Amino acid sequence: MDIQNIVVIGTGAMGSGIAYVSAVAGYNVTVLDKEQKFLDAGMDKIRRALMQGIERGKMSPADGEKVFHRIKPTLDMKSAVEGANLVIEAVFENMDVKKDVFSKLSEIASEDTILASNTSTLSITEIATVVKNPERVIGLHFFNPPAAMKLVEVVLGKETSDEVKETAIKFVEKLGKQPIVTKDSPGFIVNRVLLPALNEAAKLLDEGVASPEDIDKALVLGANFPVGPLTLADMVGLDVALASQRTMQRSFGDCYKPADILVKLVEEGNLGIKTGKGFFEYK
Ligand SMILES: NC(=O)c1ccc[n+]([C@@H]2O[C@H](COP(=O)([O-])OP(=O)(O)OC[C@H]3O[C@@H](n4cnc5c(N)ncnc54)[C@H](O)[C@@H]3O)[C@@H](O)[C@H]2O)c1
Repeated sequence: MDIQNIVVIGTGAMGSGIAYVSAVAGYNVTVLDKEQKFLDAGMDKIRRALMQGIERGKMSPADGEKVFHRIKPTLDMKSAVEGANLVIEAVFENMDVKKDVFSKLSEIASEDTILASNTSTLSITEIATVVKNPERVIGLHFFNPPAAMKLVEVVLGKETSDEVKETAIKFVEKLGKQPIVTKDSPGFIVNRVLLPALNEAAKLLDEGVASPEDIDKALVLGANFPVGPLTLADMVGLDVALASQRTMQRSFGDCYKPADILVKLVEEGNLGIKTGKGFFEYK
């Protein structure tokens, strides 16, 4: 199948980045959110990413302008998915919210539109249960920030067809990213391994073993992490990290139990960089 028109649902940290990389690769992109203020914030993020791309010499101002015009914001899902070849969902990391989006898509999107989720940990097979023809549902797990991160995990649900898998792989390659194919298992590959590291770093704080600065410094200098685990959690968003950790705990037991400080920070509304405070403060 030839992909030309893409819809990205949810214009937060990930959706705006996925829309940006897709438009840069030449796709027509419609972005959708549930309220105008979130849509405006998403378009601002895309504009900032474009400005950075221009400043870093990745594209000319004229090309930046063309890319921006390939992205259309809307609040109306029905008109957004008309003529779409691929929809990528990037809403909250919550099964009920995702199922609600996919059941609406099942009703209104054309039967051959591929429906992808950017979920970090949730089951693609379960999401697909609310879709009439589940063979078109797949996971496309981008990493944060999508403009810089090279990997996309292509996650196969139980019913995902070979044709959908092959089309998804070609799409990822056209974005200039590296696809890897994984079965549908909680947290797939990267988060199965990475989430325990972030959580253990937070547990060190719970136990008063070291300061946040020293915990991050230890992993950067001692294990060659590009950024410390607590900083990375702040980048991901502590609400997203906690929701992901809880999915892993439900699947694998209390070895994935979220650190107390992670739960506390989320309850206080301190979600990391996006709110200005998480494990660290941001101006
Ligand atoms: N943050 C990360 O580092 C990261 C990395 C990879 C994958 N993910 C996954 O990507 C998804 C989005 O994460 P994020 O960090 O961008 O979250 P976010 O909170 O920054 O953004 C979510 C966006 O979805 C919108 N939204 C919620 N419900 C909606 C609905 N019903 N219809 C339309 N829009 C809706 C919200 O208004 C918000 O703008 C999650 O599944 C998350 O697990 C996140």
